[in-house]
Amino acid sequence: MVRRLLAARAGVLTERVAALAGASVVVATALVRDGRVLAAQRSRPPELAGQWELPGGRVEAGESEPDAVARECREELGTDVRAIGRLGTDLPIAPGLLRVHRAEPAPGAAEPRALEHSALRWVGADELADLDWVAADRAVLADLTELLTGR
Ligand code: C5P
Repeated sequence: MVRRLLAARAGVLTERVAALAGASVVVATALVRDGRVLAAQRSRPPELAGQWELPGGRVEAGESEPDAVARECREELGTDVRAIGRLGTDLPIAPGLLRVHRAEPAPGAAEPRALEHSALRWVGADELADLDWVAADRAVLADLTELLTGR
């Protein structure tokens, strides 16, 4: 509980600093279904192609982070999701900050499809370490394990 409160405080502070510095925020989506999280394999740029990530992208001006999560999932996966809260702390990436949001499929949502990635895979807690994750997303694996196992 204390850890979560501290993480939330740190998140708010980092967000303000990032906003002041004009850094862009990228949201990543931990879409969980039946105890597995959806991982997506990047197709670009060449140096990241083949690595796995949580789907997402840049938050647009005036857009809330939960709206950005929903939009990116529609664009990249052709499916509707609902963002239901943050996961982990802010992660530094080249364009600014990466912020992971937990999400669930919206009622009646279509099966996700790889519209911009090379492949998709539903990954259980015991398989997370098998994937070659992009650097920033690797830092969230412990939180993902906790999320998937409830521990
Ligand atoms: O997907 P896109 O190229 O728009 O992502 C913007 C930036 O955010 C890239 O530098 C990408 O590597 C990073 N990113 C990330 N982890 C994610 C999604 C994006 O590090 N899950």
